[in-house]
Amino acid sequence: MSLPTTMRAVVIEKTGGPEVLQYRTDYPIPTPGDGQVLVKNTVSGINFIDTYFRTGLYPAPKPEILGREAAGTIVALGPNTEKYNLQIGDRVIWLAAEGYAEYTAAPAATTLKLPDGLSDEVVTASFLSGLTVLSLSRETYEVKAGDWVLLHAAAGGAGYLMTQILKNLGARVIGTAGGAEKVAVVKGLGADHVIDYRSEEGKDWVAAVKQVTGGQGVDVVYDSVGKDTWQGSLEAVKRKGTIVWFGNASGPVPPLPLNLLSPKCVKVARPTLFGYIETREELEAYSSELFDLLTSGKLKVNIHKIYPLAEVQQAHKDLEGRKTTGKLLLKPLAE
Ligand SMILES: NC(=O)c1ccc[n+]([C@@H]2O[C@H](COP(=O)([O-])OP(=O)(O)OC[C@H]3O[C@@H](n4cnc5c(N)ncnc54)[C@H](OP(=O)(O)O)[C@@H]3O)[C@@H](O)[C@H]2O)c1
Repeated sequence: MSLPTTMRAVVIEKTGGPEVLQYRTDYPIPTPGDGQVLVKNTVSGINFIDTYFRTGLYPAPKPEILGREAAGTIVALGPNTEKYNLQIGDRVIWLAAEGYAEYTAAPAATTLKLPDGLSDEVVTASFLSGLTVLSLSRETYEVKAGDWVLLHAAAGGAGYLMTQILKNLGARVIGTAGGAEKVAVVKGLGADHVIDYRSEEGKDWVAAVKQVTGGQGVDVVYDSVGKDTWQGSLEAVKRKGTIVWFGNASGPVPPLPLNLLSPKCVKVARPTLFGYIETREELEAYSSELFDLLTSGKLKVNIHKIYPLAEVQQAHKDLEGRKTTGKLLLKPLAE
């Protein structure tokens, strides 16, 4: 197959606001190296982590192409990819880096064939986020039927999926979300209580959580908001409870004096998805569970919008401006 030599891609040369995202139409197409496959991406996921790399909260060498996941078709194989049983023409999803582009040289080790019947869009809208919520609700803290769970940003990309997974596990879910529209979305997913933590009456969401749980607090808090919520999360968790901090949407949690945990014997975890799917076996196990949930209809995705690659700055503004519910996707290919 003859490939073009240049492609559309979004590149950052320096850290900063959305304006540092440069849309290019003449970026060189990568050559797949050892253990890599070249994928022509049809849909790329936008995740909040992309903003951390863009701002420099998470450092990375420049120039950099953001984007941690995409679905598409394999168009070339690098050396030493045989053991993954991937072929040119396979429809795949990958997890790695450089997804804001038409083509990505992705590690074969983190590239998986897509099941028939699941669209590129549906899988990309649930892949990184879905594997995250499955691993966090199983390995970071094992959610049990009847647990009280507080989930912040429950209408977001990860939150939308997490609410459903928690309900499937039989947990009693208290979700927080900003604004009436988002609250309605989370209620629609079956959350037991939803608090608009940006409204006047929802500002004291800790008191609301205490009231709902009969004064006890929750068994576990899933907090991806960070700076603005960490203190309340510590107050809202019950004695012997667990706090899972897994993101920094409002900024990172400041250094935490460990003695703050002792009065209630609280456990704290700070997990990352990539630590749970380091081996092919782990990646395949969580992915096949996710694909089954999607195929059976037990997990529904919510695509906020599919942005053309050239509109990536607007996508980042919308995500950071808290204007979105569910997942944002990019379409790298020209119409
Ligand atoms: N550790 C991991 O492996 C892992 C993996 C995936 C995702 N994450 C984390 O999970 C979180 C969700 O990721 P996502 O990609 O699905 O994003 P998202 O939830 O779609 O967007 C972030 C949401 O956070 C809320 N938020 C609260 N304060 C905010 C602020 N000051 N600025 C912006 N947003 C704020 C907003 O919801 P409201 O308007 O409802 O408040 C916003 O919609 C992120 O923190 C991300 O880093 C972590």
